[in-house]
Amino acid sequence: MKVDVLLGLQWGDEGKGKAVDVLTPTYDIVARFQGGPNAGHTLEFDNHKFVLHTIPSGIFRENTWNIIGNGVVIDPYVLVNNEIKAISSYTDVKSKLFISLLSNLILPSHRLLDYAKEKALGEQKIGSTLKGIGPTYTDKVSRKGIRVGDILSSNFDKKYEKLKEDHLNQIEKMGLDCSAYTIEGLSFDAYESAWMEALEELKSYKLVSTEYLIHNALIDNKTILAEGAQGTLLDIDFGTYPYVTSSNTIAAGACAGLGVGPSKIGKVFGLFKAYCTRVGEGVFPTELNDEMGEYLRDKGHEFGSTTNRPRRCGWMDLPLLKYACMVNGVTELILTKVDVLSELESFQVCTDYEVNGQITNQIPYELSRNIKPIYKTMKGWQQELNPSTVPENLNAYIKFIENYLQQRIFLVSIGANRKDNIIF
Ligand code: GDP
Ligand code: IMO
Ligand code: MG
Repeated sequence: MKVDVLLGLQWGDEGKGKAVDVLTPTYDIVARFQGGPNAGHTLEFDNHKFVLHTIPSGIFRENTWNIIGNGVVIDPYVLVNNEIKAISSYTDVKSKLFISLLSNLILPSHRLLDYAKEKALGEQKIGSTLKGIGPTYTDKVSRKGIRVGDILSSNFDKKYEKLKEDHLNQIEKMGLDCSAYTIEGLSFDAYESAWMEALEELKSYKLVSTEYLIHNALIDNKTILAEGAQGTLLDIDFGTYPYVTSSNTIAAGACAGLGVGPSKIGKVFGLFKAYCTRVGEGVFPTELNDEMGEYLRDKGHEFGSTTNRPRRCGWMDLPLLKYACMVNGVTELILTKVDVLSELESFQVCTDYEVNGQITNQIPYELSRNIKPIYKTMKGWQQELNPSTVPENLNAYIKFIENYLQQRIFLVSIGANRKDNIIF
């Protein structure tokens, strides 16, 4: 058996949570491999709406194991208080959730440091979700992070105090006063004690070597879906650097973030919206700073699932999408949120860039400079969509993208609910 990977091809929020929920009945295990509570994955079914941040989106399905892999960074407070509590009356989290001993912990002082770093950057700020992601991955790579396995060790308190002191020193050196900053609505001290309580609670969960769990599951012919967070254009290497997140969001991240070799990867599902959105700062060639941008935001309810910030909206960018398919080795495409375009008479799709007078569909090193998107106008279908009929102009749009990317679209999402899909 192989591990299939599902990930976003744009700047996140492509509808990964919903797609994983739709595909989960065919998988025994769903595993997150990178990111942390910066993610917000929405699932809608039976008149309920859930937003998951760290927990994999297979958690609501019967008999599905859900793994938080070693590549994920975990904030115990967010996991216990914001996630598990919100869903525990709907599903038995404790029996289905497995957490890697190797996952790094997001400390309260990582969150303070995230805020301080953004403040110090001023106008150049990344637009981070302020969940402590950047500082936690920085400590992981600097080999001074604290991992889930450490919470069971007797020198945890010592390690914790040392790392916290290191963070507070960094903040002091920046000359910033962060004393008034609140985390999840709490003062630092109050948050820290709630965090410690959550850490105690975490000890009652299955903290295991998930790499063995996955290895043995593959031997037992179990099917596994690796669920990506963020999107390819936020990848630390291939994204719109430095306005990216701090992990490898691409398919290769699933190998390092779960402990499986490249030969064990099967399908790679790439998700993309029928238009583009981005939350936070950074280049966005097809961004619409006009009424159409507002229309897409309004119609698509484009507000961050984690921070509630308005998402920036723009037209589909095919050169970037082709690049994303390339670096991920995508084998199947999933197109989402086409219903958002349903009322439009026509809409635009970027097929090429004009860079210094040259037409190209390659992504230049400096994406931000002198780029002019070249658009093709597509005809709208102007009718409500349902799972059994595909309007001619939607079909033409799908075929156009398939032809451009030389890749098949096998599922089209036409609404937020689990049931709203056209399967090809
Ligand atoms: P994720 O981070 O990729 O899981 O995506 P988010 O959950 O952050 O954002 C996607 C939003 O669009 C959520 O509110 C979903 O409920 C919603 N959604 C997902 N698929 C569709 C779709 O096909 N049509 C519409 N209108 N909404 C969708
Ligand atoms: P899902 O999984 C959209 C963005 C932030 C910011 C940048 C860095 O729901 O698609 P970070 O907190 O990671 O240091 O922020 O990345 N970002 C996301 N944007 N969806 C996400 O996750 C995101 N996670 C981080 O807005 O621009
Ligand atoms: Mg999201």
